[in-house]
Amino acid sequence: MKKILLLGSGELGKELTISLQRLGCYIIACDKYKNAPAMQVSQEYEVFDMLNPNDLKKVVAKYKPDLIVPEIEAIDTEGLIQFEKKGFKVIPSSRAVSMTMNRDKIRNRAKELGIKTARYGYAESLNELVDMYHNISNKVAIKPVMSSSGKGQSYASTVSDVKKAWTFALLGMRGKKKKVIIEEFIDFDYEVTLLTILDSKGNIHFCPPIGHIQKRGDYQHSWQPIRCKQSIINKMKTIARKIVKDLDGQGLFGIEFFVKKTEVFFSELSPRPHDTGMVTMFTQNFSEFDLHARAILDFTIPKIELCKKGVSQVILANKNAKGKFLIKGIENAFQDKTIDIRIFGKPETKPYRRMGVILASDLKKAKEALSKIKIINI
Ligand SMILES: Nc1ncnc2c1ncn2[C@@H]1O[C@H](COP(=O)(O)OP(=O)(O)O)[C@@H](O)[C@H]1O
Ligand SMILES: [Mg+2]
Repeated sequence: MKKILLLGSGELGKELTISLQRLGCYIIACDKYKNAPAMQVSQEYEVFDMLNPNDLKKVVAKYKPDLIVPEIEAIDTEGLIQFEKKGFKVIPSSRAVSMTMNRDKIRNRAKELGIKTARYGYAESLNELVDMYHNISNKVAIKPVMSSSGKGQSYASTVSDVKKAWTFALLGMRGKKKKVIIEEFIDFDYEVTLLTILDSKGNIHFCPPIGHIQKRGDYQHSWQPIRCKQSIINKMKTIARKIVKDLDGQGLFGIEFFVKKTEVFFSELSPRPHDTGMVTMFTQNFSEFDLHARAILDFTIPKIELCKKGVSQVILANKNAKGKFLIKGIENAFQDKTIDIRIFGKPETKPYRRMGVILASDLKKAKEALSKIKIINI
C-alpha cells in the first residue's frame, strides 16, 4: 500500500484522495486549516503551514511517504528539491513544482523553449510598472508573481489604472517579495485547458480540450467538448508535449491557452489536476483525478474517452461564515434528474469562495440548478 503525503487538501485533493484510495493507497492530507475537504476522506491528516521548511521536514520525517503530492502552489519548493535528492519521490517532479510555484520561472522557460505567449515583463516597483506599461501594450493584465485563483489580478488601460493595479496586486500577493507580471491583454476568442498526462514511461496522453469562462481571474464554468479546429488542437498539443517533457516527472498537468483566430498563446500551467477539469467527473470514462492517480502510481494510462458532453458550474459563497451556514436547495436542484452536485465540505464561507460544483449536460441546466442552491447563514 503506497503512503502518500498530499500537500494541500482542497476540493481537487479530496477527489484525488478518493481516486488514490480506490487503488489501495494510504493518504495523509495536509493543509493549514483543520477539516479541509481532503482531510474528511483521508486516513490521516496534518495541519501546518506548508511554506514553513521546518514544519514540512518534520511531517516528511514522521511519515516517510512513498510519494509527496502537491495540490497547491504555496509550498516550500526548496524543501521539495532536498527531499527529492534524499530519494523521496515528488509529483510530478520537484523541478515541475518549483518551476510553476510562481508565474515567472515557467513563463521564462516557455520563452526559452520558443513557445508563444502574450508579451510580458516584470516590475518590482510602481515606477517600473508604469515604464513597463508604456512598453508592453495599452491594455494589460497585472498579476502578482506569487498568487493564484485571480488574487491581486486586474486589468489596466490607463496609467491611473496601472497605479490601482499595483496597490491591488500588493494586497493579493503571497510571500514578501513585491513583484508583478504585466502582460499584454489578449482579446482572445476563447480559452482552453488541455489536460496532459505524462506517464511513468515518458508517454504523453491528452484529455479532450476543456473550454472555460473566468471572472475575477477565477473559473466560473467549464465544458467539454469544445468547438475548435483540429489544427488549433494540434498546436496546443505540440506546446503541451514540449513543456511537459521539459518539466519532467509523472502525473497530469493542466495547461492553459488563449486562442485568437488561428493563434494559440500559452498562458500558464499547473502540474496537477486543474479546477476547470472537474467537468471530467461528468464527461469522461476516467476523471482527471483517476488519471493523475494512475500516472503517479506508475500504472498504465487507460484509453481516455469522452462519454457525453457536459458543463461544470461553480457554487460560490457570498458572505463570511464560520461553520454556521447551510447549503440549501439540493433536492430542488435534483428535480432535474440529469444533473449532479459535489459539495466540497469547506468549514468556512467567504465571499466568492468555491463551495461546490454542479455537473450538467449543458449550461442552461447548470444555471437552472445553480439558481435553486442557496448558501445561508444560520
Ligand atoms: N494576458 C491576459 N489577457 C487576457 N486575459 C487574461 C490574461 N491573463 C489572465 N487573463 C484572464 O484571467 C484568468 C486568470 O489568469 P491566470 O494567469 O490563469 O491566473 P490564475 O493563476 O490565478 O489562474 C485567465 O484564465 C484569463 O481569463
Ligand atoms: Mg489560471
